[in-house]
Amino acid sequence: MASTLLRGRTLTFHSEPTDGEDTKAYTYIEDGAVLMADGIIAASGTYADVAKSDPAANVIDHRPHMLMAGFIDTHIHFPQVLIVASWGSQLLDWLNSYTFPAEAEYANAQHARAMAGRFCDLLTSHGTTTAVAFCSSHKASAEALFSEARVRDMRMIAGKTMMDRNAPDTVLDTPQSSYDDSKTLIADWHGTGRLSYAITPRFAITSTPEQMEMAGTLASEHPDCHIQTHLSENHDEIAFTAELYPKARDYLDVYETYGLVSDRTLLGHAIHLTGREIDAIAETGAHPVFCPTSNLFLGSGLFDDAGLRGKGIHSGIATDIGAGTSYSMLQTLNEGYKILQLQNQKLHTLRAFHWITRGNAEVLGLVDRIGTLDAGTEADVVVLDPKATPAMSLRVDRADTLAEELFALQMMGDDRSLVQTYVAGTPQKASTQ
Ligand code: GUN
Ligand code: ZN
Repeated sequence: MASTLLRGRTLTFHSEPTDGEDTKAYTYIEDGAVLMADGIIAASGTYADVAKSDPAANVIDHRPHMLMAGFIDTHIHFPQVLIVASWGSQLLDWLNSYTFPAEAEYANAQHARAMAGRFCDLLTSHGTTTAVAFCSSHKASAEALFSEARVRDMRMIAGKTMMDRNAPDTVLDTPQSSYDDSKTLIADWHGTGRLSYAITPRFAITSTPEQMEMAGTLASEHPDCHIQTHLSENHDEIAFTAELYPKARDYLDVYETYGLVSDRTLLGHAIHLTGREIDAIAETGAHPVFCPTSNLFLGSGLFDDAGLRGKGIHSGIATDIGAGTSYSMLQTLNEGYKILQLQNQKLHTLRAFHWITRGNAEVLGLVDRIGTLDAGTEADVVVLDPKATPAMSLRVDRADTLAEELFALQMMGDDRSLVQTYVAGTPQKASTQ
């Protein structure tokens, strides 16, 4: 197959930048290029060098736009696309009033298939090329999402939610059916193309001890699957969990008891943690996931990024649609920056862009495949216009440094800044400029 050369300003990360001066952590090239063949990045570097390496390549000139690795969203709910921005309540009310009824509709495979197309379109139009997704409790919802991602050759980590209590019957499974359905989905999809499975007990409140036991069995039978759940998002949630699991030392201990906490585990929110929980997360290598727009929307609380980093913990960052209010990882960084400001913590813009690309890839254990523009990795690339709106253009014209320009993009950017998104080398938008 003919190769494609993308020309533009390239930015890729080699490690997490400590600050703006940490130039060893990234490579920025004014006239750069990314060469893509068969869904893989064949080369990246200066335009002159890359063009020389393959004179026959089809050149797409994206100058003056910026090329980066596709964004990675480490926590998002596929069956919540229809309830983003639902008014007025905190976590448990919000789940009961809006979320469970919306997820019940995903029992209908036709609805799930229609929504899977819309969901993947929304991801790529916002620059997200890899997502870690909760499906509904219905096997059909996971099948719909995996099928759609497979057709697009999109990297997707997803799982059927396991939940057998404290929700309407229409979204409940049983310990045995959740085990059987997860097992079938793993057999059918895990490791197929760019797809992989996340064992998905929703959270302690909606799983009986019997179901947690089943989730633990799945985790031990499939150690290469991720595990995703929620942890300590909201005070009422934590109190109810303590009532339901009276023997647990704390919330995390529920998951630890059933063998669900390892370096493959993603813990959505993780806001109100005890010292013991933080130490256990550090020891196991599990990953808290910061969900800024969701934490603000539900009034859940302020994620202690610096505190967790200080313990050597690697957190992911994510939209958490539908409690999150934007599909954009740029908007996620914007609100994340403000949450850290409220705690007198800093999110430097170079660290921010590292986080939504290489940083999240590291959290997923996938940095050899996604998150950079390195040769040999998968050709997921975004093309960004930091001057996408009149207001951004005015601001960026005043920017003297790369960091200043990126910061404006982080704070003011959204899907309007996405000129193009390449998934495994294939453009997802009709226009290429
Ligand atoms: N805790 C359990 N389920 C959910 C969910 O769907 N969204 C959020 N934000 N928290 C949860
Ligand atoms: Zn969530």
